[in-house]
Order: sequence, then C-alpha cells, then structure tokens
Amino acid sequence: ERGGYPHFMLKEIHEQPKAVRDTLRGRVADDLSRVTLDDIHMDEAYTKKVDRIHIVACGTSWHAGLVGKAVIEQYARIPVDVEIASEYRYRSPIFSENTLVIVISQSGETADTLAALREVKQQGLRVLAITNVVGSSAAREADDVIVTWAGPEIAVASTKAYTTQLAALYLLAIHFAHVRGHLADAEVRELIEALDGLPAIAEQVLDTAPQLENFAARYVEATDAFFIGRGLDYSLSLEGALKLKEISYIHAEAYAAGELKHGTLALITEGVPVIALATQPQLYEKTVSNIVEVKARGAFVLGMTWVGNEDLEKSVDEVIYLPKTLPALAPLVAVIPMQLLSYYAAVARGNDVDKPRNLAKSVTVE
Ligand code: F6R
Repeated sequence: ERGGYPHFMLKEIHEQPKAVRDTLRGRVADDLSRVTLDDIHMDEAYTKKVDRIHIVACGTSWHAGLVGKAVIEQYARIPVDVEIASEYRYRSPIFSENTLVIVISQSGETADTLAALREVKQQGLRVLAITNVVGSSAAREADDVIVTWAGPEIAVASTKAYTTQLAALYLLAIHFAHVRGHLADAEVRELIEALDGLPAIAEQVLDTAPQLENFAARYVEATDAFFIGRGLDYSLSLEGALKLKEISYIHAEAYAAGELKHGTLALITEGVPVIALATQPQLYEKTVSNIVEVKARGAFVLGMTWVGNEDLEKSVDEVIYLPKTLPALAPLVAVIPMQLLSYYAAVARGNDVDKPRNLAKSVTVE
C-alpha cells in the first residue's frame, strides 16, 4: 500500500508532481489562455464585485493561505486577510457585503475551520472551500468548492495537500486578476504556462533528496533550527519549521529574515543550523545581508535559491539549487526540499514518521 516506499510521507512527497498536475487539469483552457474554474459558480459580476477576502484555515493549510494572500493581492489587487480558524471564530472580524471567505482544509473536517465556515455563512457571507475530500463537511456546506486532487493523504504531516492547495490558490488568483482586468492576456498566458510547468519542476526537485538526507544525518543531534526568509520565503519558512517540529521533534522557529535583529538573533550561536530561503530575486540582496548576520554568529547556513544563482555560495555553507520558475510560484517548488529535510531528520532520529506523537490526522476537537 505504500507503493514500495518505507513511509507514506515519502510516498506522498513523491506523488506531488502528479497531484499538482491532477489539480490543474481541466482548470485551464487547452490553449493556456485562461483559467476555467467551471466548478465554482461565481459569475463575472460577482467576481468583479468581491472587495475583500478572508482566508481561514489551520496549520499547513493556513500556511498555504499565506501564499494565497500574497498572490491574490499581487495579481488581483483584492485585500486579503489570512486567519487561523481558532482565532478568527472568537473575534469580530470586519466584513463588507462582498467579502468572500475562503476556507482551506485538506480533510474538510477540521473543527475550528468548520465552525468558522458555519459562523460566516450564518452572517450571510459567501464561502469557497478548498478541500481534498469531495464529500467532506466543508465541501458540503460551502457555496463553492475547489477540490484539490491530491488523492488520500495518510501521513499526519501534510505534504501533497499543501502543494495542491497552492495550485488551487494560484488558479484562483489568476482567474480573479484576469476577470477584473488586472492582468493582460499575455501575462495570463505567461503565468499559466509557468503553472503548467510546475509538475515537471517538482519532479526535478525530488533529486535534492540525497543532499537533504546527508544534511539531516549531520544534524541529527540538533536541538534547535531556524528557518529564515522574506516575503513568500517567510511564509514558506513557517511551513518548513512546522514540518520539522512535528515529525523530527527538533525545536524549529521561522523568522522573517529582516526581523531577526529585533530579538531572535540572540539565539544564534556557534553551529546552530539555519535554513535560509532566497528564492525571490527582488528580495535577494536584503536576504543575503540577513544571512551574513547569522553567519557572523557562527550559524551553519543551508541556503536555497534558484539554479544559476551561485552568488549565494559566498554567504552560506551549503546550497540547494531549485529549478527556475516565476518567483510567485517558487513556494510550490521550494517546499519540497523542506519536506524532505524533515522526513530524513525524523527517520534519522528513529521517530514514527507517519504518526508523530500527540498529533492526529484530522483534528475534530476545538
Ligand atoms: C501539518 C498538518 C496540520 C494540518 C491542520 C489542518 O503537517 O497536517 O497542520 O494542516 O491540522 O488540517 P486540514 O487541512 O485538514 O484542515
């Protein structure tokens, strides 16, 4: 049932190219000229009217939401708030009549996310669910559903659910931007072509596995690790740190790289592993200056950047090169080495990778 893989998690990491391909399939026109989200029932008038989006989710799905916010704001210019469901439902969020609520839940059964969905529906708001389970409560109760076709995710640590959620959010961002006139046809095509290329790129990135296995073996005794990055790389750092914590039990913290010097830099001492994400060309120089700050305190820095950017070798100890894609799409690619890192760290420490302590696959308690 694990298809020859020692753990479901590794199998699911390797299924990502297919899962992303399946999630994109049928949702873009054959000539790649536009997104065709026929499964949602938002007409053009409504699509143009939405003036605010609230994304509500938990855990890894919340991390996907953070990337969603960045791309929806960048391309469609709609203000987006991303909220943790267990926080959102207990405060009084400010809505407009045309606020769209997007709930993201792999299982579609997470108690806090469902409670938030029900709450906003009661207030008359429209809800779009992004879920991986067709008949789930979230799918049944939302007004619109985008199903991610990741297939069953068995390992507690979410991997292919996250990358397919990103694919769905990219489609949505491009769709909104196109309909609302914020992207020209040529720009839409460029984005869709890049999206279409992601499964093949995800496949190539899996080849970084031996490098990460080696790194994990050297840091098997680490007690702490830090993930740093700016912009989308910061959202990704949060996901990298969560993955490492939940299955390897190594304490990990994600920090916006520019914020380190406001406190967390005090924790950087000789030999502390820092995973530095530098996938965003427009933020590259600034990120490097933060990497230099942690190097100066003795950190061991594993950098990640796009192929060809050998400049990073000057400031880090080791580099993971990621195939090139558009910066906005880089999270879908860059998360894979981080999933592999946490997987190999958990294996090296002899942990139960697929069933980490204290955690459940579907969180039905509040
Ligand atoms: C982490 C993980 C969790 C889930 C969270 C939400 O690897 O799997 O953080 O992402 O419990 O679950 P869903 O998406 O089912 O609502």
